[in-house]
Amino acid sequence: MSTGHDLTNLTLRIWRQAGPDAPGRFEEYLIESISDEASFLELLDILNERLIAEGKEAIVFDHDCREGICGTCSLMIDGQAHGPARGTATCQLHMRKFESGQTITIEPWRANAFPIVKDLMVDRSPFDRIVEAGGFITAETGGAPDANLIPIPKPVADASMDAAECIGCGACVAACPNGAASLFTGAKLAHLNLLPQGQAERFTRAEAMVETMEQHFGSCTNHGECEAACPKEISIDVIAMMNADYLKAKFKNRKSLSRA
Ligand code: SF4
Ligand code: FES
Repeated sequence: MSTGHDLTNLTLRIWRQAGPDAPGRFEEYLIESISDEASFLELLDILNERLIAEGKEAIVFDHDCREGICGTCSLMIDGQAHGPARGTATCQLHMRKFESGQTITIEPWRANAFPIVKDLMVDRSPFDRIVEAGGFITAETGGAPDANLIPIPKPVADASMDAAECIGCGACVAACPNGAASLFTGAKLAHLNLLPQGQAERFTRAEAMVETMEQHFGSCTNHGECEAACPKEISIDVIAMMNADYLKAKFKNRKSLSRA
């Protein structure tokens, strides 16, 4: 709830890096006053307007929808992916979560698989490689069938929808001490593998996506930091489902190979 007042004398320590191979450093900026109703990205917008007016280079950061939908925003704020509010993407974070006089440290995602492009922007394209590895989904062509032609138990539909909430932001990777992408990959697999429509390619999909994930990211050792950092509060249950499907895929595919 808004308290309708201004925060004063904030110090922002922001990571500046001219390019992928340039050395990075923190730079400090004083914000004399900002409304507690401003979003965190509006704070950066206001700072950037000031920098541009002073003839300095604006701070590069990722953003798009600003509604918690697209997964583009990606800031490590005081060491927490997406900042101090649980279940909240950076773009949904507001200044009322901070105090006057506070020093706020803002960094990009730190993960080997996500190299820094510039300042606070990283390259998250290894996520695209995992999704690409999932391939196509068999679906009937023609007119859309009636929704109730394929009965799906409500708990199954709910679990699938919960997994489908993943916006691909990468906070799970940034929060993981191993830089693992198991929560993301598990979510992408679960939302298809739980449903009847996702069965045709279920095991080839699990095998291909997990093996692509392993080419780019670290290994999961069940720290659980990913679930705590996830703005969509995706459950680590999806990792257990992914591992179970991967294991079954190896047996299933071995049997298929032996018949070939
Ligand atoms: S699982 Fe959560 S933290 Fe990871 S990419 Fe999806 S929404 Fe972001
Ligand atoms: S900018 Fe789209 S989720 Fe934050």
